[in-house]
Amino acid sequence: MSEDFIVKDITLAEFGRKELDIAETEMPGLMALRDEYGDSKPLAGSRIVGSLHMTIQTAVLIETLVALGADVRWASCNIFSTQDHAAAAIAQAGVPVFAIKGQSLEEHWDYLDLSFQFPEGPNLILDDGGDATLYILLGARVENGETNLIETPTSEEEIAVFAQIKKRMEASPGWFTKMRDQIKGVSEETTTGVHRLYDLVKNGQLPFPAINVNDSVTKSKFDNKYGCKESLVDGIRRATDTMMAGKVAVVCGYGDVGKGSAASLRGAGARVKVTEIDPICALQAAMDGFEVVTLEDAVSDADIFITTTGNKDVIRIEHMRAMKDMAIVGNIGHFDNEIQVANLKNHKWTNIKDQVDMIEMPSGSRIILLSEGRLLNLGNATGHPSFVMSASFTNQVLAQMELWLKGDEYNNDVYILPKHLDEKVARLHLDRIGVKLSSLNKEQADYIGVSTEGPFKPEHYRY
Ligand code: NAI
Repeated sequence: MSEDFIVKDITLAEFGRKELDIAETEMPGLMALRDEYGDSKPLAGSRIVGSLHMTIQTAVLIETLVALGADVRWASCNIFSTQDHAAAAIAQAGVPVFAIKGQSLEEHWDYLDLSFQFPEGPNLILDDGGDATLYILLGARVENGETNLIETPTSEEEIAVFAQIKKRMEASPGWFTKMRDQIKGVSEETTTGVHRLYDLVKNGQLPFPAINVNDSVTKSKFDNKYGCKESLVDGIRRATDTMMAGKVAVVCGYGDVGKGSAASLRGAGARVKVTEIDPICALQAAMDGFEVVTLEDAVSDADIFITTTGNKDVIRIEHMRAMKDMAIVGNIGHFDNEIQVANLKNHKWTNIKDQVDMIEMPSGSRIILLSEGRLLNLGNATGHPSFVMSASFTNQVLAQMELWLKGDEYNNDVYILPKHLDEKVARLHLDRIGVKLSSLNKEQADYIGVSTEGPFKPEHYRY
């Protein structure tokens, strides 16, 4: 076995493998791709850097990429989201993986750097939140004198990433530029990473094509929504064992993740309020039966606060000071800056257990903060169930195949997979849950202007 890995405890591999075996039975999309492409190995020759939560479901994704011929190295995209038994199983299988639940920020960037260290360098990135893409592109800009941000980091994150860039530049001059130039493309998993990609395009800084996996319908309208519907309450319960029924919960943001999160809390019996800045989403929340309020109006009465916006400074220090004693505060968006955690640093922290802290305000009232403001469904629980991740990751594998086989046909822009592939991903998940699909006859198909085989909707349809 290769020793090219950093995991918490390699003896957890057997447990990880058992859970992987179960997950495979719930991930029909990925298993179908193994059946379809396992012999032809369309990813042969590809060297994929993965930066995505190192969970059991991700392990099934990794082994699917390998089954299709890829060479893979992996890091997690979040310091709290790794499942150590999943990482151990992957390491035991011989895939270099660098991920420990509870790793430091410095280790986060160091492990990401290690995941790039193929002898010949990688040629594809599979990203979640954009850190792997950022690392290479920022490093190359620093190397080429296009930014001097390295002198002026403003947050703990920036300090950590610039320290790692500096370390790599000293060890291997010219490395970032070389890596940037040999990457054929990136597939991006989540809303926040996709925002970063569109920003790069706007600024003329995207040097390779990108596939926006998030906006496949079978990703964002399923993982972000139905995934959070199951995993949000799971995270709050494992962290706090609090009684949810009857409590007042505030969900900030009513996009895909907010919709799933509000439904999750309602399903557990909480009385749910929603905050929004977009009138369309606010109207949706109201017509779904939620009271739409401002955080200022709701802050002193609610028991649970969850941010789902992908935005920054949504729950601020003044809000946390106005909360009831023992209010629970957590975030399920990609980054921790939705909650002003940095402004709590000079308060009294009492660690209750891993990823659960009680923080005392100057008034003496306390809040329970989950996962230090990082995404709590992965920090305090195990993320979304396998079945919904199968849909997301089937899109990821199709995106990697597209970039590897046809990347040269794309411009340096952000693309979404074509609708017929989106429909294929959905189709692959029907049997497992006993869905019987009806079919169109020719006359009906002609009448609504589609083919009997699909695509069944125009591009502008919103589901
Ligand atoms: P989205 O864009 O569909 O929804 C975000 C919503 O927040 C929008 O409706 C927006 O109007 C609203 N918003 C923005 N600023 C606000 C503010 N200050 N107050 C109230 N509402 C505000 O994005 P989506 O797909 O729901 O993703 C949200 C975040 O969750 C992203 O960071 C994404 O990367 C992450 N994510 C996390 C997952 C997890 O498992 N934890 C899964 C999928 C996505």
